[in-house]
Amino acid sequence: MEPIDLSYGRTFGNGFPHEFFTWLRADEPVWWHEPTEHTPEGEGFWVVSRYADVVAMFKDGATFSSAVAGTALADSNAAGIVLNQTDDPQHRTLRALVNKGFTPRMIGRLEDDLRIRARQILDGVTVGEPFDFLTDVARELPLQAICSVLGVPQEDRAELVEIVDRGVAGETGEVIAMEYVRQLSAYARKLLAEKRQNPSDDILSVIVHASLEDGSRLDDRELRAFFNLLFPAGAETTRSAIGGAVLQFVAEPDQYRLLREEPDRLKVAIEEIVRWTSPSVYKRRTATRDVQLGNAEIREGQRVTLWEMSANRDEHVFDEPFRFDVTRDPNPHVGFGLGTHFCLGASLARLEMKVMFEELFERFERFELAGEPRWTNNNRLVGLTKLPVVAR
Ligand code: HEM
Repeated sequence: MEPIDLSYGRTFGNGFPHEFFTWLRADEPVWWHEPTEHTPEGEGFWVVSRYADVVAMFKDGATFSSAVAGTALADSNAAGIVLNQTDDPQHRTLRALVNKGFTPRMIGRLEDDLRIRARQILDGVTVGEPFDFLTDVARELPLQAICSVLGVPQEDRAELVEIVDRGVAGETGEVIAMEYVRQLSAYARKLLAEKRQNPSDDILSVIVHASLEDGSRLDDRELRAFFNLLFPAGAETTRSAIGGAVLQFVAEPDQYRLLREEPDRLKVAIEEIVRWTSPSVYKRRTATRDVQLGNAEIREGQRVTLWEMSANRDEHVFDEPFRFDVTRDPNPHVGFGLGTHFCLGASLARLEMKVMFEELFERFERFELAGEPRWTNNNRLVGLTKLPVVAR
């Protein structure tokens, strides 16, 4: 099969290139991607597409490091500093700072607040009138939720989401464009100063005032990096899952009807929604030693990318992987990652989806398309930017 440029955002502009990855899984499970004019730093990289190899990489952070150069194709200057771009044991220390705020129990306390928000959002939808489900609904709840959790004033959310969305719109495959980081950091500087003066019970206040195991505190740069990680992680991903699910429910109204009639099935369905949409598409690691993976001889220092979306379509693990089946159980998807970096926000994301779908079932029988859906030109977050629908 003709290679395609996985380092170029436009390659993903019509959704994930499944055909190419199906071929990779079968014929070239650990494939060397030559650099193109779009590839960051002009460095080639390995593309790991099979479930078993993806799992092996997630579990072996000592060999496949997040700290050396970060988790995106482009080398990151937050590598070795921020939670997702550190390795254990440093990573464990940082994670302990925020873990408590994200346990299922702590997140469960948000349910009532999220439900009120979801109802307010859906009050804006009129049955029979076209609207953009992505912007008006799918984007709103996760955005409001992450503002609540971090202690970001809700009135700032429009300004922030605009910065974040511009960051994802870049076509270079480099989500973390310089300008985007600068703008988010400027906002974080202001907010963190406020949290230092007037702490509350939000996560940022906790991080600002927390001591690490050795008694030291995070410095300003580390604190800003935390914000620059948590805000977009909360705002960008769950919207793709909610939006992608509704797009699928348009195509398969029976699946929506089943859940509406038997809402006890929602817990299982949410895992299928994450598998199906796989909003986080790939992660990069850097090899810390020469290592063999499948037939490939990976050299120390090389970039190795693992593709969650591809692992979640692996024919060896999922029966009929290209069938969206809300009753699929068990469902060992890796949409939230695996191992030490397993998604910190998974409980929050699951709760947002639960509340949103329950409220959708309450109000609407089905959805119909009212225009062309649009996808992001981005390889790190495969998601919709527009989903015009009519609710019935
Ligand atoms: C459906 C929605 C979501 C998906 C698909 C998703 C996916 C992922 C994945 C695949 C990882 C692993 C990263 C790696 O191994 O390098 C991860 C980590 C992470 N996620 Fe999520 N995520 C979602 C929602 C959220 C939310 C709502 C938050 C809110 C704070 C969040 C915060 C994080 C953080 C902080 C990490 C880094 C954890 C660590 O390094 O220990 N995520 N996520």
